[in-house]
Amino acid sequence: MEITKICCIGAGYVGGPTMAVIAQKCPNIQVTVVDLNEQRIKDWNDPNTDNIPIYEPGLAEIVAEARGRNLFFSTEVEKAIDEAQVIFISVNTPTKTYGKGKGMAADLKYIELCARQIAKVAKQNKIVVEKSTLPVRTAEAIKSILDNTGNGVQFQILSNPEFLAEGTAVTDLLNPDRILIGGDTTPEGQDAINALVNVYANWVDKTKILKTNVWSSELSKLTANAFLAQRISSINAMSELCEKTGADVNEVAKAIGMDSRIGSKFLKASVGFGGSCFQKDILNLVYIAKSYGLNEVADYWEQVIIMNDHQKRRFSNKIVQTLYNTVADKKITFLGWAFKKDTNDTRESAAIYVADDLINEQAKISVYDPKVSRNKMLSDLDYLQTRSVEENSKALSIFEDAYKACEGAHAIAILTEWDEFTTYDWQKIYDSMHKPAFLFDGRNILNAKELESIGFIYKGIGS
Ligand code: UDX
Ligand code: ADP
Repeated sequence: MEITKICCIGAGYVGGPTMAVIAQKCPNIQVTVVDLNEQRIKDWNDPNTDNIPIYEPGLAEIVAEARGRNLFFSTEVEKAIDEAQVIFISVNTPTKTYGKGKGMAADLKYIELCARQIAKVAKQNKIVVEKSTLPVRTAEAIKSILDNTGNGVQFQILSNPEFLAEGTAVTDLLNPDRILIGGDTTPEGQDAINALVNVYANWVDKTKILKTNVWSSELSKLTANAFLAQRISSINAMSELCEKTGADVNEVAKAIGMDSRIGSKFLKASVGFGGSCFQKDILNLVYIAKSYGLNEVADYWEQVIIMNDHQKRRFSNKIVQTLYNTVADKKITFLGWAFKKDTNDTRESAAIYVADDLINEQAKISVYDPKVSRNKMLSDLDYLQTRSVEENSKALSIFEDAYKACEGAHAIAILTEWDEFTTYDWQKIYDSMHKPAFLFDGRNILNAKELESIGFIYKGIGS
């Protein structure tokens, strides 16, 4: 089967960039991205592509090229489902906040809604592709809904997990390490896999496209994220030991990274990992392991999360301790709010938790982030429900100019590794601050010696 029409349900951080790249690379395929959120679709259709709702380097240019040609953003979910041969499901699967598996299992209500919508609308055979990270065996649930509520048409369910990292989504999509496609071992399942292989083969070498069964594909995604997050928690665990012993975690990371069995990537000590995937996927893995009675397996992976929570809390504690055990009424400026550089996404960002801790200590927080909006920062804090919306908006001042944000501050904390922070005039910032001037570098991006020679009391992670 040759694919000419694709629909993607969910115009978020995964669906948006992925479909933009498919449309750019496959001009003969019509790609329609649909979402229930009308504002989000309106923003994707903004004539000025700099205003699209997701910031990713290089994305605006691709959208400008393909949009209106073979890339469309729409709220007409049913029409797009009806027309497409392939439907990608890229809706969010947050951690459950209620009921069984609360705080651990993935909330599949959005996925189920999608499956029911597809079943209702589809009048021809369709391939349904799981793109969102889903717990193992979700495909089975989707299939059951489709087969039992549909109009008697045939569905093939594929798992095609997304490995892009935010901030580098476009290059990750253009040059993926691998593409993973899981499907049924039946001839129909294999046909569906091959149809999707042919889409990716427009720009990805076929040797990089792996075909597996559905469960292997689903579990590989969780495993990849668990291994990556584990590396960060491992180096972060060492960062605390380094601080106690006089070793420097950057030196340790460099030394071990040169061992080809370990490798140098993902060894940067930090205030803790954030993002929509790592925590959610590991909690998911833990939940699955527990549900099979594998308590040791569950505890092993849970420790990665425990270490990460500890690292965030340790950072806020260090700020309080260093500022003579009180931050009440002191101005602390955050540079960065996003969970990493080059994205406007803030989900699970360490900044949110560090801010929450410091506001509990009655600090006044000022924030500058080049891409995150004021409303987003406030709603991130409100989501924790630690205090009222009014109290949050009083405790958090948001600036559009980093230098202004730092004026009169007792301390600065770097929460995101935005490149621009390394180019600032730190002497000028120092001069405008309350003395002694403290700088807590949660990302180890600044030059300690240079800052100390200006007069800062500098504290990085793990040295
Ligand atoms: C991750 C996976 O990398 C990606 O393959 C998957 O599809 C989705 O989850 P993402 O969350 O977008 O991607 O970003 P990633 O670059 O993995 O960073 C996650 C967090 O770890 C960030 O907060 C980042 O700052 C932190 N990090 C990363 C470190 O603290 N140290 C490192 O060495 C690397
Ligand atoms: P991700 O990082 O996984 O892409 P996002 O939250 O950025 O997550 O995007 C998911 C999108 O899916 C949201 O814009 C949300 O409105 C959309 N969505 C959720 N459920 C449905 C649904 N049933 N139909 C259409 N869109 C949906």
